Amino acid sequence: MKQSSFSRRDFLKSTAAVSAAAVLSQAGAVYAAGPEKIRLALVGCGGRGNGALNDCINAAKYLNIPVEIVALADHFKDRALKTAEQHGLSPDICFDGPAGYKKVMESIADVVLLVTPPAFRPNQFEAAINAGKHVFMEKPVAVDAPGARKIMEVGEIAKQKKLCVVAGTQRRYAANYRKTKFAIEEGALGPILGGAVYWCGGKLWHQERRDGESDADYMVRNWVSFTEMSGDHIVEQHIHNIDIANWFIGRTPKLAIGFGGRARRKTGNQFDFFNVDFDYDEGCRIHSMCRQVNGCYNQVSELFTGSNGTTYGSGPVKPIKAVDIKYPNFEQANGSEMVQEHVELLRGIIDGKPINAAKDVAESTLTAIMGRISAYTGQLVRWRDLTDAASNSPWYNLKLKPGLEEFENGTAKAPADDVIAIPGEA
Ligand SMILES: NC(=O)c1ccc[n+]([C@@H]2O[C@H](COP(=O)([O-])OP(=O)(O)OC[C@H]3O[C@@H](n4cnc5c(N)ncnc54)[C@H](O)[C@@H]3O)[C@@H](O)[C@H]2O)c1
Repeated sequence: MKQSSFSRRDFLKSTAAVSAAAVLSQAGAVYAAGPEKIRLALVGCGGRGNGALNDCINAAKYLNIPVEIVALADHFKDRALKTAEQHGLSPDICFDGPAGYKKVMESIADVVLLVTPPAFRPNQFEAAINAGKHVFMEKPVAVDAPGARKIMEVGEIAKQKKLCVVAGTQRRYAANYRKTKFAIEEGALGPILGGAVYWCGGKLWHQERRDGESDADYMVRNWVSFTEMSGDHIVEQHIHNIDIANWFIGRTPKLAIGFGGRARRKTGNQFDFFNVDFDYDEGCRIHSMCRQVNGCYNQVSELFTGSNGTTYGSGPVKPIKAVDIKYPNFEQANGSEMVQEHVELLRGIIDGKPINAAKDVAESTLTAIMGRISAYTGQLVRWRDLTDAASNSPWYNLKLKPGLEEFENGTAKAPADDVIAIPGEA
Protein backbone atom coordinates (compact mmCIF):
# COMPACT_ATOMS: atom_id res chain seq x y z
CA MET A 1 0.00 0.00 0.00
CA LYS A 2 1.27 3.43 -0.90
CA GLN A 3 1.42 5.83 2.06
CA SER A 4 1.55 9.58 1.70
CA SER A 5 4.69 11.38 2.82
CA PHE A 6 2.62 14.05 4.55
CA SER A 7 4.54 16.55 6.62
CA ARG A 8 3.60 19.78 8.27
CA ARG A 9 6.05 21.62 6.00
CA ASP A 10 4.33 20.14 2.94
CA PHE A 11 0.96 21.04 4.35
CA LEU A 12 1.94 24.63 5.01
CA LYS A 13 3.13 24.88 1.41
CA SER A 14 -0.16 23.53 0.08
CA THR A 15 -3.24 25.40 -1.07
CA ALA A 16 -5.16 23.93 1.83
CA ALA A 17 -2.77 25.54 4.25
CA VAL A 18 -3.52 28.91 2.73
CA SER A 19 -7.23 28.37 3.23
CA ALA A 20 -6.62 27.00 6.72
CA ALA A 21 -4.60 30.04 7.68
CA ALA A 22 -7.30 32.26 6.24
CA VAL A 23 -10.11 30.62 8.16
CA LEU A 24 -8.16 30.83 11.40
CA SER A 25 -8.56 34.57 11.25
CA GLN A 26 -12.34 34.31 10.85
CA ALA A 27 -14.56 35.63 13.60
CA GLY A 28 -16.79 33.03 15.21
CA ALA A 29 -14.30 30.18 14.89
CA VAL A 30 -15.75 27.16 16.61
CA TYR A 31 -12.59 25.40 17.57
CA ALA A 32 -9.03 26.58 17.60
CA ALA A 33 -6.58 24.12 16.09
CA GLY A 34 -3.26 24.55 14.34
CA PRO A 35 -3.07 24.32 10.57
CA GLU A 36 -1.04 21.12 10.87
CA LYS A 37 -4.36 19.28 11.14
CA ILE A 38 -7.10 19.00 8.59
CA ARG A 39 -10.29 20.06 10.29
CA LEU A 40 -13.48 18.24 9.41
CA ALA A 41 -17.15 19.13 9.71
CA LEU A 42 -20.27 17.12 8.99
CA VAL A 43 -23.66 18.41 7.85
CA GLY A 44 -26.26 15.65 8.22
CA CYS A 45 -25.47 13.29 11.11
CA GLY A 46 -27.60 10.38 9.89
CA GLY A 47 -26.67 6.88 8.77
CA ARG A 48 -24.43 7.80 5.82
CA GLY A 49 -23.16 11.01 7.41
CA ASN A 50 -21.67 9.09 10.33
CA GLY A 51 -20.39 6.48 7.87
CA ALA A 52 -18.73 9.13 5.69
CA LEU A 53 -17.14 10.76 8.72
CA ASN A 54 -15.63 7.42 9.77
CA ASP A 55 -14.50 6.77 6.18
CA CYS A 56 -12.74 10.15 6.20
CA ILE A 57 -11.08 9.43 9.55
CA ASN A 58 -9.95 6.02 8.28
CA ALA A 59 -8.60 7.64 5.10
CA ALA A 60 -6.63 10.10 7.24
CA LYS A 61 -5.18 7.20 9.27
CA TYR A 62 -4.24 5.43 6.03
CA LEU A 63 -2.46 8.57 4.82
CA ASN A 64 -1.06 9.36 8.27
CA ILE A 65 -2.68 12.78 8.27
CA PRO A 66 -3.95 14.23 11.56
CA VAL A 67 -7.60 15.29 11.42
CA GLU A 68 -9.96 16.84 13.90
CA ILE A 69 -13.75 17.19 13.90
CA VAL A 70 -14.62 20.83 14.54
CA ALA A 71 -18.32 21.22 13.71
CA LEU A 72 -21.45 19.07 13.35
CA ALA A 73 -24.92 20.02 12.14
CA ASP A 74 -28.19 18.17 11.85
CA HIS A 75 -31.83 19.17 11.45
CA PHE A 76 -32.41 17.32 14.74
CA LYS A 77 -30.22 18.39 17.66
CA ASP A 78 -30.07 14.93 19.26
CA ARG A 79 -28.49 13.46 16.09
CA ALA A 80 -25.64 16.00 16.07
CA LEU A 81 -25.13 15.52 19.82
CA LYS A 82 -24.99 11.73 19.38
CA THR A 83 -22.25 12.03 16.76
CA ALA A 84 -20.32 14.41 19.04
CA GLU A 85 -20.66 11.96 21.93
CA GLN A 86 -19.51 9.02 19.77
CA HIS A 87 -16.30 10.91 19.02
CA GLY A 88 -15.86 12.22 22.57
CA LEU A 89 -16.46 15.83 21.50
CA SER A 90 -18.04 18.83 23.17
CA PRO A 91 -21.74 19.61 22.48
CA ASP A 92 -20.52 23.16 21.75
CA ILE A 93 -19.53 22.14 18.23
CA CYS A 94 -23.12 21.05 17.42
CA PHE A 95 -25.68 23.06 15.47
CA ASP A 96 -29.25 22.18 14.61
CA GLY A 97 -32.26 23.24 12.56
CA PRO A 98 -32.53 23.59 8.78
CA ALA A 99 -30.09 26.56 8.79
CA GLY A 100 -27.56 25.05 11.22
CA TYR A 101 -25.27 24.29 8.27
CA LYS A 102 -24.55 28.03 7.97
CA LYS A 103 -22.76 27.93 11.34
CA VAL A 104 -20.63 25.08 10.02
CA MET A 105 -19.62 27.25 7.08
CA GLU A 106 -18.54 29.96 9.57
CA SER A 107 -16.40 27.44 11.46
CA ILE A 108 -12.69 26.80 10.99
CA ALA A 109 -13.37 23.53 9.16
CA ASP A 110 -11.19 22.92 6.10
CA VAL A 111 -13.36 20.08 4.79
CA VAL A 112 -17.15 19.82 5.01
CA LEU A 113 -19.02 16.57 4.42
CA LEU A 114 -22.51 17.26 3.01
CA VAL A 115 -24.73 14.28 3.76
CA THR A 116 -28.27 15.59 4.14
CA PRO A 117 -31.25 14.64 1.92
CA PRO A 118 -30.41 15.41 -1.75
CA ALA A 119 -32.85 18.34 -2.07
CA PHE A 120 -30.61 20.44 0.20
CA ARG A 121 -27.32 19.73 -1.53
CA PRO A 122 -27.20 22.59 -4.11
CA ASN A 123 -27.62 25.37 -1.53
CA GLN A 124 -25.37 23.70 1.02
CA PHE A 125 -22.68 23.07 -1.62
CA GLU A 126 -22.87 26.71 -2.69
CA ALA A 127 -22.52 27.85 0.94
CA ALA A 128 -19.53 25.55 1.47
CA ILE A 129 -17.66 26.71 -1.65
CA ASN A 130 -18.47 30.37 -0.91
CA ALA A 131 -16.92 29.79 2.53
CA GLY A 132 -13.76 28.30 0.97
CA LYS A 133 -14.29 24.73 2.18
CA HIS A 134 -13.18 21.54 0.47
CA VAL A 135 -16.21 19.29 0.05
CA PHE A 136 -17.22 15.68 0.15
CA MET A 137 -20.87 15.40 -0.88
CA GLU A 138 -23.06 12.38 -1.11
CA LYS A 139 -24.96 11.47 -4.25
CA PRO A 140 -27.38 12.45 -5.66
CA VAL A 141 -26.66 16.16 -5.61
CA ALA A 142 -30.06 17.57 -6.61
CA VAL A 143 -33.69 16.63 -7.19
CA ASP A 144 -34.43 18.93 -10.16
CA ALA A 145 -32.71 20.46 -13.17
CA PRO A 146 -32.08 23.92 -11.63
CA GLY A 147 -30.43 22.20 -8.65
CA ALA A 148 -28.18 20.03 -10.85
CA ARG A 149 -27.17 23.07 -12.92
CA LYS A 150 -26.32 24.95 -9.73
CA ILE A 151 -23.98 22.13 -8.69
CA MET A 152 -22.20 22.43 -12.06
CA GLU A 153 -21.90 26.23 -11.76
CA VAL A 154 -20.63 26.10 -8.18
CA GLY A 155 -18.29 23.27 -9.15
CA GLU A 156 -16.63 25.65 -11.62
CA ILE A 157 -16.21 28.25 -8.86
CA ALA A 158 -14.62 25.53 -6.71
CA LYS A 159 -12.13 24.91 -9.51
CA GLN A 160 -11.23 28.59 -9.66
CA LYS A 161 -10.76 28.60 -5.88
CA LYS A 162 -8.65 25.41 -6.09
CA LEU A 163 -10.97 23.58 -3.72
CA CYS A 164 -11.36 19.79 -3.79
CA VAL A 165 -14.80 18.33 -4.47
CA VAL A 166 -15.43 14.59 -4.15
CA ALA A 167 -18.81 12.88 -4.53
CA GLY A 168 -20.17 9.65 -3.09
CA THR A 169 -20.51 7.91 -6.47
CA GLN A 170 -18.25 5.28 -4.99
CA ARG A 171 -18.04 2.84 -7.91
CA ARG A 172 -15.73 5.39 -9.57
CA TYR A 173 -13.27 4.77 -6.68
CA ALA A 174 -13.56 0.96 -6.71
CA ALA A 175 -10.55 -0.97 -8.08
CA ASN A 176 -12.69 -3.42 -10.08
CA TYR A 177 -14.72 -0.67 -11.80
CA ARG A 178 -11.53 1.32 -12.52
CA LYS A 179 -10.05 -1.79 -14.10
CA THR A 180 -13.06 -2.12 -16.40
CA LYS A 181 -12.92 1.56 -17.31
CA PHE A 182 -9.22 1.21 -18.06
CA ALA A 183 -9.87 -1.79 -20.32
CA ILE A 184 -12.57 0.15 -22.19
CA GLU A 185 -10.18 3.06 -22.70
CA GLU A 186 -7.60 0.58 -24.02
CA GLY A 187 -10.16 -0.52 -26.63
CA ALA A 188 -11.00 -3.95 -25.17
CA LEU A 189 -14.72 -3.58 -25.92
CA GLY A 190 -14.60 -1.37 -28.98
CA PRO A 191 -17.18 1.42 -29.03
CA ILE A 192 -20.01 0.75 -26.56
CA LEU A 193 -23.17 0.10 -28.54
CA GLY A 194 -25.61 -0.59 -25.74
CA GLY A 195 -26.26 -2.05 -22.36
CA ALA A 196 -28.47 -2.26 -19.32
CA VAL A 197 -28.23 -0.83 -15.81
CA TYR A 198 -30.21 -2.24 -12.90
CA TRP A 199 -31.06 -1.47 -9.31
CA CYS A 200 -33.85 -3.88 -8.54
CA GLY A 201 -34.05 -4.44 -4.78
CA GLY A 202 -36.28 -4.25 -1.76
CA LYS A 203 -38.02 -1.19 -0.37
CA LEU A 204 -36.12 1.17 1.88
CA TRP A 205 -37.44 2.23 5.26
CA HIS A 206 -40.39 4.57 5.62
CA GLN A 207 -41.72 6.54 8.59
CA GLU A 208 -45.36 7.06 9.54
CA ARG A 209 -46.32 10.58 10.51
CA ARG A 210 -46.27 11.20 14.28
CA ASP A 211 -49.05 13.03 16.12
CA GLY A 212 -48.44 16.78 16.13
CA GLU A 213 -45.29 16.50 14.03
CA SER A 214 -44.47 19.52 11.84
CA ASP A 215 -44.45 19.07 8.06
CA ALA A 216 -40.71 19.86 8.04
CA ASP A 217 -39.82 17.25 10.67
CA TYR A 218 -42.02 14.63 8.97
CA MET A 219 -40.40 15.24 5.59
CA VAL A 220 -36.90 15.10 7.04
CA ARG A 221 -37.59 11.85 8.92
CA ASN A 222 -39.38 10.33 5.92
CA TRP A 223 -37.23 11.84 3.18
CA VAL A 224 -36.78 8.63 1.13
CA SER A 225 -40.55 8.65 0.46
CA PHE A 226 -40.87 12.15 -1.05
CA THR A 227 -39.63 13.05 -4.54
CA GLU A 228 -39.16 16.65 -3.38
CA MET A 229 -36.55 15.42 -0.86
CA SER A 230 -34.91 12.42 -2.58
CA GLY A 231 -35.57 12.88 -6.30
CA ASP A 232 -37.30 9.45 -6.17
CA HIS A 233 -35.29 6.23 -6.08
CA ILE A 234 -34.26 6.37 -9.76
CA VAL A 235 -32.29 9.44 -8.69
CA GLU A 236 -31.49 8.57 -5.08
CA GLN A 237 -30.31 4.99 -5.54
CA HIS A 238 -30.19 4.01 -9.21
CA ILE A 239 -27.86 6.96 -9.89
CA HIS A 240 -25.00 4.61 -8.96
CA ASN A 241 -25.62 2.46 -12.05
CA ILE A 242 -26.59 5.33 -14.36
CA ASP A 243 -23.35 7.04 -13.33
CA ILE A 244 -21.40 4.02 -14.58
CA ALA A 245 -23.11 4.23 -17.98
CA ASN A 246 -22.19 7.94 -18.31
CA TRP A 247 -18.63 7.26 -17.12
CA PHE A 248 -17.94 4.27 -19.38
CA ILE A 249 -19.64 5.71 -22.47
CA GLY A 250 -18.01 9.06 -21.85
CA ARG A 251 -21.03 11.24 -22.50
CA THR A 252 -24.58 11.91 -21.30
CA PRO A 253 -27.71 10.66 -23.10
CA LYS A 254 -29.47 12.88 -25.61
CA LEU A 255 -32.95 11.76 -24.57
CA ALA A 256 -34.98 9.49 -22.35
CA ILE A 257 -38.31 7.74 -22.74
CA GLY A 258 -39.63 5.81 -19.80
CA PHE A 259 -42.48 4.65 -17.65
CA GLY A 260 -43.06 3.64 -14.06
CA GLY A 261 -45.69 3.21 -11.41
CA ARG A 262 -46.63 2.60 -7.81
CA ALA A 263 -48.51 -0.23 -6.19
CA ARG A 264 -47.02 -0.98 -2.77
CA ARG A 265 -45.92 2.24 -1.09
CA LYS A 266 -48.08 3.90 1.59
CA THR A 267 -46.37 7.20 2.44
CA GLY A 268 -44.92 9.93 0.26
CA ASN A 269 -45.28 10.20 -3.50
CA GLN A 270 -42.48 8.14 -5.05
CA PHE A 271 -42.97 5.39 -7.64
CA ASP A 272 -42.18 1.74 -6.88
CA PHE A 273 -40.51 1.08 -10.24
CA PHE A 274 -39.06 2.77 -13.33
CA ASN A 275 -38.15 1.49 -16.77
CA VAL A 276 -36.28 3.95 -18.97
CA ASP A 277 -34.57 3.82 -22.34
CA PHE A 278 -31.65 6.27 -22.49
CA ASP A 279 -30.51 7.18 -25.99
CA TYR A 280 -26.80 8.12 -25.98
CA ASP A 281 -26.80 8.90 -29.70
CA GLU A 282 -24.37 7.31 -32.18
CA GLY A 283 -26.52 4.17 -32.03
CA CYS A 284 -25.92 3.56 -28.33
CA ARG A 285 -28.87 2.84 -26.03
CA ILE A 286 -28.91 1.94 -22.36
CA HIS A 287 -31.88 0.27 -20.76
CA SER A 288 -32.34 1.36 -17.14
CA MET A 289 -34.50 -0.60 -14.73
CA CYS A 290 -35.05 0.06 -11.03
CA ARG A 291 -37.53 -1.28 -8.53
CA GLN A 292 -37.95 -1.06 -4.76
CA VAL A 293 -40.45 -3.82 -4.00
CA ASN A 294 -39.95 -6.61 -1.48
CA GLY A 295 -40.27 -10.27 -2.45
CA CYS A 296 -39.14 -9.84 -6.08
CA TYR A 297 -36.05 -10.91 -8.02
CA ASN A 298 -33.14 -8.60 -7.14
CA GLN A 299 -30.38 -7.41 -9.41
CA VAL A 300 -27.95 -4.52 -8.97
CA SER A 301 -25.42 -4.32 -11.80
CA GLU A 302 -24.45 -2.78 -15.12
CA LEU A 303 -23.89 -4.60 -18.40
CA PHE A 304 -22.30 -3.17 -21.57
CA THR A 305 -21.89 -4.51 -25.09
CA GLY A 306 -19.34 -3.13 -27.51
CA SER A 307 -18.35 -4.08 -31.04
CA ASN A 308 -15.62 -6.34 -29.55
CA GLY A 309 -17.23 -7.87 -26.50
CA THR A 310 -19.18 -7.48 -23.29
CA THR A 311 -18.55 -6.59 -19.67
CA TYR A 312 -20.29 -6.04 -16.37
CA GLY A 313 -19.45 -2.72 -14.72
CA SER A 314 -17.41 -4.60 -12.14
CA GLY A 315 -15.85 -6.82 -14.86
CA PRO A 316 -14.66 -9.14 -16.18
CA VAL A 317 -14.24 -7.75 -19.67
CA LYS A 318 -14.85 -10.47 -22.25
CA PRO A 319 -13.43 -9.38 -25.62
CA ILE A 320 -14.27 -11.42 -28.73
CA LYS A 321 -10.80 -10.67 -30.13
CA ALA A 322 -8.13 -10.75 -27.37
CA VAL A 323 -6.56 -7.41 -26.44
CA ASP A 324 -3.28 -7.23 -24.52
CA ILE A 325 -3.76 -4.86 -21.61
CA LYS A 326 -1.17 -3.96 -18.97
CA TYR A 327 -3.26 -2.95 -16.00
CA PRO A 328 -1.79 -0.57 -13.43
CA ASN A 329 -2.40 -1.24 -9.74
CA PHE A 330 -5.63 0.37 -8.61
CA GLU A 331 -5.40 1.52 -5.02
CA GLN A 332 -8.38 0.78 -2.75
CA ALA A 333 -7.57 1.94 0.76
CA ASN A 334 -8.62 -0.55 3.47
CA GLY A 335 -10.30 -2.56 0.71
CA SER A 336 -13.10 0.03 0.63
CA GLU A 337 -14.03 2.31 -2.25
CA MET A 338 -15.76 4.56 0.29
CA VAL A 339 -12.50 5.08 2.18
CA GLN A 340 -10.70 5.54 -1.15
CA GLU A 341 -13.02 8.52 -1.92
CA HIS A 342 -11.66 10.30 1.14
CA VAL A 343 -8.07 9.23 0.50
CA GLU A 344 -8.26 11.04 -2.82
CA LEU A 345 -9.99 14.05 -1.27
CA LEU A 346 -7.37 14.44 1.48
CA ARG A 347 -4.47 13.72 -0.88
CA GLY A 348 -5.79 16.38 -3.28
CA ILE A 349 -5.79 18.89 -0.43
CA ILE A 350 -2.36 17.97 0.92
CA ASP A 351 -0.71 17.81 -2.50
CA GLY A 352 -2.35 21.06 -3.60
CA LYS A 353 -3.78 19.21 -6.61
CA PRO A 354 -7.51 19.69 -6.28
CA ILE A 355 -9.77 17.08 -7.83
CA ASN A 356 -13.31 18.03 -8.75
CA ALA A 357 -16.19 15.60 -9.27
CA ALA A 358 -18.99 18.20 -9.30
CA LYS A 359 -19.74 18.06 -13.04
CA ASP A 360 -19.71 14.25 -13.26
CA VAL A 361 -22.04 13.74 -10.31
CA ALA A 362 -24.34 16.58 -11.41
CA GLU A 363 -24.60 15.08 -14.90
CA SER A 364 -25.44 11.63 -13.54
CA THR A 365 -27.99 13.18 -11.17
CA LEU A 366 -29.51 15.05 -14.12
CA THR A 367 -29.58 11.90 -16.28
CA ALA A 368 -31.63 10.15 -13.59
CA ILE A 369 -33.89 13.23 -13.24
CA MET A 370 -34.46 13.11 -17.02
CA GLY A 371 -35.59 9.48 -16.70
CA ARG A 372 -37.89 10.33 -13.80
CA ILE A 373 -39.54 13.24 -15.62
CA SER A 374 -40.18 11.01 -18.61
CA ALA A 375 -41.74 8.29 -16.44
CA TYR A 376 -43.85 10.77 -14.43
CA THR A 377 -45.16 12.60 -17.49
CA GLY A 378 -45.13 9.86 -20.11
CA GLN A 379 -43.26 12.23 -22.44
CA LEU A 380 -39.97 12.05 -24.30
CA VAL A 381 -37.44 14.24 -22.47
CA ARG A 382 -34.32 15.64 -24.14
CA TRP A 383 -31.06 16.51 -22.38
CA ARG A 384 -31.38 20.01 -23.79
CA ASP A 385 -34.82 20.38 -22.14
CA LEU A 386 -32.94 20.38 -18.83
CA THR A 387 -29.73 22.14 -19.79
CA ASP A 388 -30.57 24.75 -22.45
CA ALA A 389 -32.87 27.67 -21.61
CA ALA A 390 -33.44 28.16 -25.37
CA SER A 391 -35.28 24.81 -25.43
CA ASN A 392 -38.24 26.63 -23.79
CA SER A 393 -38.98 23.41 -21.98
CA PRO A 394 -41.33 23.56 -18.97
CA TRP A 395 -38.88 21.28 -17.14
CA TYR A 396 -35.89 23.63 -17.48
CA ASN A 397 -36.96 25.85 -14.57
CA LEU A 398 -39.14 23.30 -12.78
CA LYS A 399 -38.05 23.53 -9.14
CA LEU A 400 -39.45 20.99 -6.70
CA LYS A 401 -40.86 22.51 -3.53
CA PRO A 402 -40.49 22.66 -0.62
CA GLY A 403 -36.75 23.19 -0.96
CA LEU A 404 -34.19 24.34 1.58
CA GLU A 405 -35.45 27.94 1.38
CA GLU A 406 -38.91 26.86 2.61
CA PHE A 407 -37.41 24.73 5.39
CA GLU A 408 -35.28 27.66 6.51
CA ASN A 409 -38.10 30.22 6.49
CA GLY A 410 -40.55 27.85 8.18
CA THR A 411 -43.03 27.51 5.30
CA ALA A 412 -42.22 23.90 4.25
CA LYS A 413 -45.49 22.08 3.50
CA ALA A 414 -45.45 18.32 3.03
CA PRO A 415 -47.10 17.10 -0.19
CA ALA A 416 -50.05 14.78 0.39
CA ASP A 417 -49.17 11.14 1.02
CA ASP A 418 -50.05 8.68 -1.75
CA VAL A 419 -50.88 11.32 -4.39
CA ILE A 420 -48.61 10.61 -7.34
CA ALA A 421 -47.75 11.74 -10.85
CA ILE A 422 -50.14 10.41 -13.52
CA PRO A 423 -48.38 9.89 -16.88
CA GLY A 424 -50.21 11.65 -19.72
CA GLU A 425 -51.68 14.17 -17.27
CA ALA A 426 -48.72 15.49 -15.27
N1 LIG B 1 -23.10 6.38 -1.38
C1 LIG B 1 -23.93 5.54 -0.79
O1 LIG B 1 -23.83 4.35 -0.94
C2 LIG B 1 -25.01 6.08 0.09
C3 LIG B 1 -25.62 5.25 1.02
C4 LIG B 1 -26.64 5.77 1.82
C5 LIG B 1 -27.03 7.09 1.66
N2 LIG B 1 -26.42 7.87 0.74
C6 LIG B 1 -26.83 9.28 0.56
O2 LIG B 1 -26.51 10.02 1.73
C7 LIG B 1 -27.48 11.04 1.93
C8 LIG B 1 -28.07 10.88 3.35
O3 LIG B 1 -28.65 9.60 3.47
P1 LIG B 1 -28.80 8.87 4.90
O4 LIG B 1 -29.09 7.46 4.60
O5 LIG B 1 -27.66 9.21 5.76
O6 LIG B 1 -30.12 9.55 5.47
P2 LIG B 1 -30.46 9.82 7.00
O7 LIG B 1 -31.90 10.20 7.09
O8 LIG B 1 -29.96 8.70 7.83
O9 LIG B 1 -29.56 11.11 7.32
C9 LIG B 1 -29.80 12.39 6.81
C10 LIG B 1 -29.57 13.34 7.95
O10 LIG B 1 -29.64 14.70 7.47
C11 LIG B 1 -30.30 15.47 8.48
N3 LIG B 1 -30.77 16.72 7.90
C12 LIG B 1 -31.90 16.95 7.20
N4 LIG B 1 -31.95 18.26 6.84
C13 LIG B 1 -30.84 18.85 7.32
C14 LIG B 1 -30.33 20.17 7.27
N5 LIG B 1 -30.96 21.17 6.63
N6 LIG B 1 -29.17 20.43 7.89
C15 LIG B 1 -28.49 19.44 8.55
N7 LIG B 1 -28.94 18.16 8.62
C16 LIG B 1 -30.10 17.88 8.01
C17 LIG B 1 -31.40 14.53 8.98
O11 LIG B 1 -31.93 14.93 10.21
C18 LIG B 1 -30.65 13.21 9.04
O12 LIG B 1 -30.03 13.00 10.30
C19 LIG B 1 -28.49 10.89 0.81
O13 LIG B 1 -28.16 11.74 -0.25
C20 LIG B 1 -28.31 9.46 0.36
O14 LIG B 1 -28.68 9.25 -1.00
C21 LIG B 1 -25.41 7.39 -0.03
